[in-house]
Amino acid sequence: MARATRATQPELDAAVQALRDGEVVGFPTETVYGLGANAQHASALQKVFVLKGRPTSHPLIVHLDSARFLHRWARAVPPAAARLAERFWPGPLTLVLPRADNVLDLVTGGQDTVAIRVPSHPMALQLLTAFGGGIAAPSANRYGHVSPTRAEHVREEFGEGVRVVLDGGECKVGLESTIVACLHGEVRLLRPGHISLTQLRHAVGKVASGPGAEAPRVPGSAQSHYAPVTPLRLVAAGQMERLADELSRGGVRVGVLAQRPPLGSFRSVTWVNAGTRLDRYAHDLYANLRTLDKIGATCLLVQEIPADERWDAVRDRLTRAAAGTATDPGELP
Ligand code: TXA
Ligand code: MG
Repeated sequence: MARATRATQPELDAAVQALRDGEVVGFPTETVYGLGANAQHASALQKVFVLKGRPTSHPLIVHLDSARFLHRWARAVPPAAARLAERFWPGPLTLVLPRADNVLDLVTGGQDTVAIRVPSHPMALQLLTAFGGGIAAPSANRYGHVSPTRAEHVREEFGEGVRVVLDGGECKVGLESTIVACLHGEVRLLRPGHISLTQLRHAVGKVASGPGAEAPRVPGSAQSHYAPVTPLRLVAAGQMERLADELSRGGVRVGVLAQRPPLGSFRSVTWVNAGTRLDRYAHDLYANLRTLDKIGATCLLVQEIPADERWDAVRDRLTRAAAGTATDPGELP
């Protein structure tokens, strides 16, 4: 049975109380689960960094229940940003804007900008409204690890280290939000996500992409992000059977994430067919990587995904996951 997408009153009360006490709370969004803290509470924010093992120079996204109080967090909202907010909020879009004076350095990483998002998951909105303030939340995973798309993933990552984890079922999108900076008179895509460059351009016209000279730091774009523990390698579709066969004959246990069923059978290969539908593939990606990470494989082989723009966000995460694992599985015994 699908889980409820709204929290019960006692669940909500416990989560709000934890936030007021300066504790961190796991909560669902439509992209991935967040590890939330009161964005105006320095020691609560510290706990987020400690739990994640994340350097405090890496800024956090502030989640709000609507654009209503945006001006409390951003000292300027350029027209393009207002248009994007109007078009895509609530939803999987994060806007990077000039920060308001009173935003804590722990939120911004000491930068002059702040990242803000209004999520669309009903339970996230319920929590934000009941709390009545901004919730700073990175993805609820240890630094550099695979993001969580189910409540049990958050427990897997942190155990009892997090007092309350709200369970809102599986995240609909499954990949982190699209991040767009609206600074210095330009609009720039910093992290690809479910909302594509084409959709952004339809909404506001010109949109640059990638880290420009003036672009703020996006530490999530550190190469080694979103990585499973098992070494991961991207493999062309036509090479998959040969490589899987070769490795398993050599006694290596292999996990495969492909977009079709295998053509033959192999001795020690776990083959996951994630299919060719983008939304489904993205929805399942992190759960699939977590599953494959647990089979005791020496390496994971991921079929290269289509080259078109629609797959940019998936490609971005897979490329980083592959970069995050040091060993080249092609060189394993
Ligand atoms: O979908 C999401 O965005 C999820 C859910 C929980 O909302 N959150 C998320 O947070 O992915 P996190 O911390 O894992 O990634 C946030 C990214 C980081 O790469 C961070 O560097 C970037 O946002 N970021 C935060 N503040 C920024 C700023 N002021 N300028 C540029 N990048 C910023
Ligand atoms: Mg993250």
